[in-house]
Amino acid sequence: MREVTPSATRTEMTWIVMPGQTNALDTVFGGQVMAWIDVCAAVAAQRFARGAVVTASMDSLLFRAPIRKGDIAVLQATVNWAGRTSMEVGVRVDAEDPNTGARVHTSTAYLTFVALDEDGNKREVPRLKCETEDERRRCADAEVRRQRRLQARAEDKERRA
Ligand SMILES: CC(C)(COP(=O)(O)OP(=O)(O)OC[C@H]1O[C@@H](n2cnc3c(N)ncnc32)[C@H](O)[C@@H]1OP(=O)(O)O)[C@@H](O)C(=O)NCCC(=O)NCCS
Repeated sequence: MREVTPSATRTEMTWIVMPGQTNALDTVFGGQVMAWIDVCAAVAAQRFARGAVVTASMDSLLFRAPIRKGDIAVLQATVNWAGRTSMEVGVRVDAEDPNTGARVHTSTAYLTFVALDEDGNKREVPRLKCETEDERRRCADAEVRRQRRLQARAEDKERRA
């Protein structure tokens, strides 16, 4: 089976926050940040799975600090964990002051993607080869989050049954 390291999936995206993306307080809309997160995470997932992926879930998201008009929004994504057909991607969002370069960590998001083939059926993903202590820790933490998600999913199914 093909093996891919987390570092091979690493994706960074940057945007200058424009007036059309901000609210009356001149800070970026939450939904805009979520859209950026989804795109950045999808690129990391595609670099891992090398093909189509769909977002299965995004964990609850905390906006710890605002990103202001004119700031540089910096998103960094990496695949943390992989199963048979799914993978978890972690995304860190920072606001960078263009004048000083100072960065503030504004959000961390965790998303699950599922790999699909040309017919839209689920397909197996490569093995994630963790090489560093940090990568192994992130993978172990992701496994704990996955169990919580599967539990929440099962409870949701039960409620709807
Ligand atoms: C995501 C989707 C493909 C899952 O299909 P499914 O038949 O329910 O999938 P399964 O139950 O077989 O799960 C497939 C994998 O995803 C994982 N998974 C599915 N939902 C999950 C969730 N909410 N949280 C964590 N993992 C999840 C499963 O554990 C399994 O992992 P594994 O193969 O690595 O062990 C399907 O629900 C779907 O198409 N959803 C809509 C996706 C979409 O439109 N996204 C937005 C636009 S991209």
